[in-house]
Amino acid sequence: MKVVLAWFLMLMGVAAFAASNSYGPITKKDPALEKRIDSLIEKMSVEEKIGQLALRDWGMYSKEQIPQIKQAIREGKLGGFLNVSMSQVNDQAFAELQKVAVEESPNGIPLIFGQDVIHGYKTIFPIPLGQAASWNADLVERGARVAALEASADGVRWTFAPMIDIARDPRWGRIAESLGEDPLLASDLGVAMVKGFQTDDPSQPTSLAACAKHFVAYGATEGGRDYNSAYVPEGILRDIYLKPFKAAVDAGLMTIMSSYNALNDIPATANAFTLKTILRDEWGFNGFVVSDWNSVLEMIPHGFAKDDRHAAELSANAGIDFEMHSDSYERYLPDLIKQGKFSEEDLNIAVRNILRVKMMLGLWENPYPVGNQEDTFLNADFLASAKEAAEQSFVLLKNEGNILPLKKSQKVAVIGPLADAAHEQLGTWIYDGEKKDTRTVLPALKKYVGDDANILYAPGVSYSRDKSTDGFAAAIAAAKKADVILYIGGEESILSGEGHSRGDIRLPGVQQALIGELAKLDKPLVQVIMAGRLIQLDQTLTQSDALMMAWHPGTMGGPALVDVLYGERSPVGRLPLTWPITVGQIPYYYNHLATGRPASDDNYTRIDDIEQEIFQHFPGNSSNLLDLGHLPQFPFGYGLTYSTFSYDKVKINKSKIKLGKSLTASVVIKNTGKVTATEVVQLYVQDKVGSRARPVRELKGYQRVTLAPGKSQKVTFELHTDNLAFHNPSMELVTEPGEFNLWIAPNALAGKALAFEVQ
Ligand code: NOJ
Repeated sequence: MKVVLAWFLMLMGVAAFAASNSYGPITKKDPALEKRIDSLIEKMSVEEKIGQLALRDWGMYSKEQIPQIKQAIREGKLGGFLNVSMSQVNDQAFAELQKVAVEESPNGIPLIFGQDVIHGYKTIFPIPLGQAASWNADLVERGARVAALEASADGVRWTFAPMIDIARDPRWGRIAESLGEDPLLASDLGVAMVKGFQTDDPSQPTSLAACAKHFVAYGATEGGRDYNSAYVPEGILRDIYLKPFKAAVDAGLMTIMSSYNALNDIPATANAFTLKTILRDEWGFNGFVVSDWNSVLEMIPHGFAKDDRHAAELSANAGIDFEMHSDSYERYLPDLIKQGKFSEEDLNIAVRNILRVKMMLGLWENPYPVGNQEDTFLNADFLASAKEAAEQSFVLLKNEGNILPLKKSQKVAVIGPLADAAHEQLGTWIYDGEKKDTRTVLPALKKYVGDDANILYAPGVSYSRDKSTDGFAAAIAAAKKADVILYIGGEESILSGEGHSRGDIRLPGVQQALIGELAKLDKPLVQVIMAGRLIQLDQTLTQSDALMMAWHPGTMGGPALVDVLYGERSPVGRLPLTWPITVGQIPYYYNHLATGRPASDDNYTRIDDIEQEIFQHFPGNSSNLLDLGHLPQFPFGYGLTYSTFSYDKVKINKSKIKLGKSLTASVVIKNTGKVTATEVVQLYVQDKVGSRARPVRELKGYQRVTLAPGKSQKVTFELHTDNLAFHNPSMELVTEPGEFNLWIAPNALAGKALAFEVQ
């Protein structure tokens, strides 16, 4: 309650200094704003217009170059900068650069300052994939709001988030930044982030313009290798990869970033089909599109543009408004315009898109940072929110013999490289969060237990990739003295994120060997994984009595984990991804298409059960892997609590509905265990026959229900036939009449199907 009140006051306080210049949502062009843009554009020279399309990376400049940069601003040659706050060049850079733009450039157009504020600014929240595991849009929105309040106090008014690339491959390092594999969950949480960053009134000086990225299908990169090609048929592109972007655009998203990959052979940065036909013509997006960092010029090594000039021509014509880092627009657009290869009309459209966002942000009214850094950074409410977000991100995957929650009276051997690793628990994309502010597990544990003698710390390895076994003896000695072994391992931050993909997704270094040694002691073993991706568990799964996925949990990860491990809170997280047994199963996502030979337990023959020299068509020619079967390690949506829940009276109110109508599906959920816990009740549907083959299941809704022991609650979902729509072979979004299956279940593989029909 205290936290809520403090929030309210803080937001009120913000409103007190906000400019009253709201133009309403960007989804509808405001005539007054368009008029304002017209009158500014009339005064601008072609050079100044091209200048507005230049976004430069402040981190690339040295101190000596500052006068030169200021001169370029003075001449109206720059529209904005990225990553200024992380620069050591000059503390006051924001204000100094802005002053030149506002007071000395030809038309006084303010600069926009963007930054990768991905999961917090000073107060670091769990990595986005961890936040996605909370399935809690309100919490995710709050995290984005905290990030906006902190970043804007430093002058950042634009963030390169949310990253809403659907990700189906845990080898891909950037899966850490994603919101998982499901289009509905990623849409809901992506929209929550947009709202948290932008608020209803982006002209408040504490609002950030959000930037959904990467447009599009960057998550479909082949083999999980970053920047690689993506081949996605248009139906899947629209139904899966574009869905979160469309949701974000409809929610008032102000900016979009193009991706590095080529999509179906056309680099996303010059893809007029996605950038113009879909984004502008079909969706009516009115914000601006920024290239990714140097992605315009990277079309040359891609083999798509022959030189810088060609790259500028291709991307400007395809609809990239703002050029990030490279300067091909500045160098070549004047001439391309003269030669008729890029029109002044298109230049005006790009400038208008950028000015629209700048004006909506109220940059003329509030060009300088207004927040007070001391009161804002890491304030107690923000830390409390970060802790809650971390707690809700943890996914309990195994808890044999109810080894968790731990008891204060138990002697615990704390082992593993991430129990006290302040930098590593922050995760990828941390520019401004600092190690010194991070609360790790070890001190939090000591504080909670209150008796240092009950906590024996011997990490065993010094960092996640450590290949030395020198520390094993001390770890084993500590474990021998303890009642419980608490292993906290995983991956360092740098092993996920941009350009950090892995082909082998097991625990790196000698961690598996260490867990193997500990398991020999025959003591209860709790394994906690902190990582930016799913980990191939191998024998560590059977060797551990309990397993908790903690992602990279951020600033407050330590105390949050201790609270959950000791049962102050029951785990609530659910997997936003399908967890494979080994990399050999990848890609493995729950909403795959049905095949002509669906795999099941009945038709599956294990590799070792096949008779030698048996005729080729031995039993079990179904869609599975002989050595891994047809099931994942853990399904999408899976997660345990410290309680148990029953699902009873699953019902649909009508077995037939007409197009355009809704049905109601309900279930009675009962907490059948001993502690209060939260169940994430999930609604799945299968369209049994379609004009394009349909997925075996699709998530259509979810609700979080918190119940005390013995209590039950009816959970109701309304399902409209519009929610059943997909793109038919003509790429029209339609709901096709026919038969459907519906499940209300705790994960994507559970539950019994109920049938209904759309007429
Ligand atoms: C490249 C990354 O792909 C993108 O996500 C990021 O926002 C930009 N660099 C800016 O740092």
